[in-house]
Amino acid sequence: MRTSSAPDVLLQLDRQAPEALHRQVERLLRDAVRSGRLRAGSALPSSRVLARELEVSRGIVVEAYEQLAAEGYVSTRPGGKTRVARRQAPIQAARPVSSTPSFEFDFRPGRPDLEEFPREAWLRSVRRSLASAPAGSLSYLDGRGLPELRVELAAHLNRARGTAAHPDDLIITAGFAQGLFLTASILRAAGARRFALEDPTLGDSRLIIAAAGLEPIDIPVDGDGLRVDLLARTRAAAVLTTPAHQYPTGRVLSAERRAELLAWAERRGTFIVEDDYDAEYRYDRKPVGAMQGLRPDRVIYAGSASKLLAPGLRLGWFIAPPELAEPMVALKKTIDHGSPAIDQLAFADFIARGDLDRHLRRMRPIYRHRRDHLLSTLRTHLPELHPEGASAGMHVLAWLPPELDPDLIVDGAASIGIGLGSVPRGSGGAPEGRGALVFGYGSIPDRSVEPGIRRFARLWRKAGWAAVT
Ligand SMILES: Cc1ncc(COP(=O)(O)O)c(C=O)c1O
Repeated sequence: MRTSSAPDVLLQLDRQAPEALHRQVERLLRDAVRSGRLRAGSALPSSRVLARELEVSRGIVVEAYEQLAAEGYVSTRPGGKTRVARRQAPIQAARPVSSTPSFEFDFRPGRPDLEEFPREAWLRSVRRSLASAPAGSLSYLDGRGLPELRVELAAHLNRARGTAAHPDDLIITAGFAQGLFLTASILRAAGARRFALEDPTLGDSRLIIAAAGLEPIDIPVDGDGLRVDLLARTRAAAVLTTPAHQYPTGRVLSAERRAELLAWAERRGTFIVEDDYDAEYRYDRKPVGAMQGLRPDRVIYAGSASKLLAPGLRLGWFIAPPELAEPMVALKKTIDHGSPAIDQLAFADFIARGDLDRHLRRMRPIYRHRRDHLLSTLRTHLPELHPEGASAGMHVLAWLPPELDPDLIVDGAASIGIGLGSVPRGSGGAPEGRGALVFGYGSIPDRSVEPGIRRFARLWRKAGWAAVT
């Protein structure tokens, strides 16, 4: 490290650092201006003098001065001195980069085990598909998604989920969230006003439906799933449902209700959005096939890589009847010109090589074991809670006594490093308007389940919540 002094400021260049010298000069001068060490209006040494002082070539200083002039930190007049600019952009205090909250013990629902993401297999798929993809795949895309992925997904879903999909019925979306937004938006454009959804449900769905300009109508669920009798009393143009594993109650839509729901859609000419959430993670028996396979003209099927692999992939897929698929594709093209091509190609290869099936086969026993572990730990430390839900998915739910507000409990848990989910009091389908706690076990490592629940149980007793149950 050499130290060189210039008239107004001490600049220390590090010749061992990977950062280029002109970048270092630029950064050091910029910092000196921002911190006020170089006052507004003061003259800087000529490039020749500073270069000599710093023992660098003059070109390095000239380049740094030019960059700082372009950014507005200094001003240079031809043949004149370089001075610190009189008016600068407001000085920005060092701000930490925002990030999403994390918990020491994360029982929040809707998160798969990201430690188990099949990085090697995914990397192989990225390499292989990138090596062989025609250059055209990297161009602007249409809103439907790459044919390579639609072919693989249609075959996979028809085989594993009993859907009836031609690759051209598929639309690749940025997750379930975007697909729901597209669906609601095109229904709204066609004149729809109301969109029904299960209550309780994933909170974001109401927001998405409302953001698309439709009125969300809450339809309670009971032990058999969505109350189709109550749905039939509304004038909803469509309904969103999670028949395979209701989120968050964990119930499964009964055979009778399925038939009633399909009859409702047929009678009214309405649509069912089937969020096939968690269907691949059924532990005690084979999951029931998708409703879309029975009525592809009335059911819009929705799937997502968020639980199968990772939410950060932002990959979802919708199967829609042609009269809806076409406007959805057009809207998708308008808003983002299609989902990222390399991810789509990699996912297509991942499915084609059998890696998706292998990953799911590997994960099912892991989640099943973790679910059993969570349930037995809850029985031991919080016997007054009675978790329920089908042996599926990545969460269980426990209703609370009417006196307890789940949101207060979630906040209390967060303050001691525990992430939990909740169902607010008064949502449809809740016995006597009770609220509930939702314990996800997708992302919490096995070894953390017991210490996390023990810590929560201490809070539970200390806060007097145990006494109410
Ligand atoms: C009910 C439900 N459906 C779908 C999803 C997946 O949404 P996305 O694909 O937008 O990540 C989630 C995520 O938690 C969910 O809770």
